[in-house]
Amino acid sequence: MAKRVFIGREALEELCRCYPTPFHLYDEREIRSRARALNAAFSWNSGFKEYFAVKATPTPAIVRLLAEEGCGCDCATGVELMLAAACGVTGENIMLSSNDTPDDDYRLAARMGALINLDSADMVECLSRALGGALPETVCLRLNPGGSFEVPDNPAGRPAESKFGMTEEQIFESCRRLRAAGVEHFGLHSFLLSNAQGNGYYPALARLLFSRAVRMRDELGVAISFVDLSGGVGVAYREEDAEADIAVIGAGVRTAYEDILVPAGMGDVAIFAELGRWMCGPAGALVTRVIHKKETYRTFLGVDACAADLMRPALYDAYHHITVMGKEDAPRTHAYNVVGGLCENNDQFARDRILPETGVGDLLFIHDTGAHGHAMGYNYNGKLRSAELLVGEDGSVRLIRRAEKPGDYFATLDIDEDFTAALTRGNRQWK
Ligand code: LLP
Repeated sequence: MAKRVFIGREALEELCRCYPTPFHLYDEREIRSRARALNAAFSWNSGFKEYFAVKATPTPAIVRLLAEEGCGCDCATGVELMLAAACGVTGENIMLSSNDTPDDDYRLAARMGALINLDSADMVECLSRALGGALPETVCLRLNPGGSFEVPDNPAGRPAESKFGMTEEQIFESCRRLRAAGVEHFGLHSFLLSNAQGNGYYPALARLLFSRAVRMRDELGVAISFVDLSGGVGVAYREEDAEADIAVIGAGVRTAYEDILVPAGMGDVAIFAELGRWMCGPAGALVTRVIHKKETYRTFLGVDACAADLMRPALYDAYHHITVMGKEDAPRTHAYNVVGGLCENNDQFARDRILPETGVGDLLFIHDTGAHGHAMGYNYNGKLRSAELLVGEDGSVRLIRRAEKPGDYFATLDIDEDFTAALTRGNRQWK
């Protein structure tokens, strides 16, 4: 399907006069409509809750907007817990779904009354130690079923090679120990495919988890309060990719629920999700301008963004569609490598990408950066992280994160008095 540009060229040029490129731009309407579609798709389950994966877009304006749509927060670290709480998300609306977790994060999560998802069997002791033996009433356990996990339209997942989760035996053993220590309710979680294509992933994962949940209830006599399907539902990065249909996914999970949990008398189990990419990915774009054009053995378009603004192409060779603003309908006739300025040859947003004829000054809209985009940014080469802007439902645009300034880059060096004094002198001298 043709990729959607959610702002016109003139409006974007106007915006660039206030906010220099590069910046990430998000579409409030799209984010809200995704949250509503997800909640509608799972409305058959009265306990359904999406815990938005904060790591995907840790920006308060986005987290608050999703909270208004009924979403909680899935956090990976103490800092993300602080961010969620400061956005007004509290108690069991927060899930700490982490691995290799430091005791401090457990303590903070427990003080906040957040749900805690344990990634490994030894974490039972860690949690107990961190909390001085006062375990929460409810604990979630993360399953790694091992082997391979096959879903049509996707390369086979290889859980056995993943660092996440615990074996079924470890889940049972952890459950016994936790129950002996006073835990009354349990959740079961797993994450087996990332950016899953098609509609089959969640239903297949649900079947796997529901059958384990019934076994846990039958063999251990424990109460399973929720099954957390975590993240992983994919988006259509390429024009030829099919969009996941969340209504079909919700119906597929419902069939699994009615096949497995309801007959087992477990029709009160809540379904949780921790989607990040599906919620926000297509609702964001990286806006950047071509500042150089160079011909060698390829034709390079040098843009003012770089991998520090969007790491996915450099890190995973990921495809992000590119629209040249104002040339949406022009024939695509030229092959370009679209590159950033990092001293790393993998800092290329696209290689041999066929675009309309493009030159210096053209504005590029790099699609689907709303999740795992700005969030993964870094400061290599002294590159400063870009601003984030939100197009509101009424079309107005507001700044939701300012661009970094050199002072942000140097902020942690305030311990070095000689350096900060020299920096101040230099800044005066070069002004
Ligand atoms: N829950 C947990 C425990 C996770 O680890 C993740 C993502 C999510 C939820 C959200 O997954 P999503 O629905 O966004 O796929 N940086 C990579 C993705 C890494 C995902 C890590 N965990 C990328 O850009 O593709």
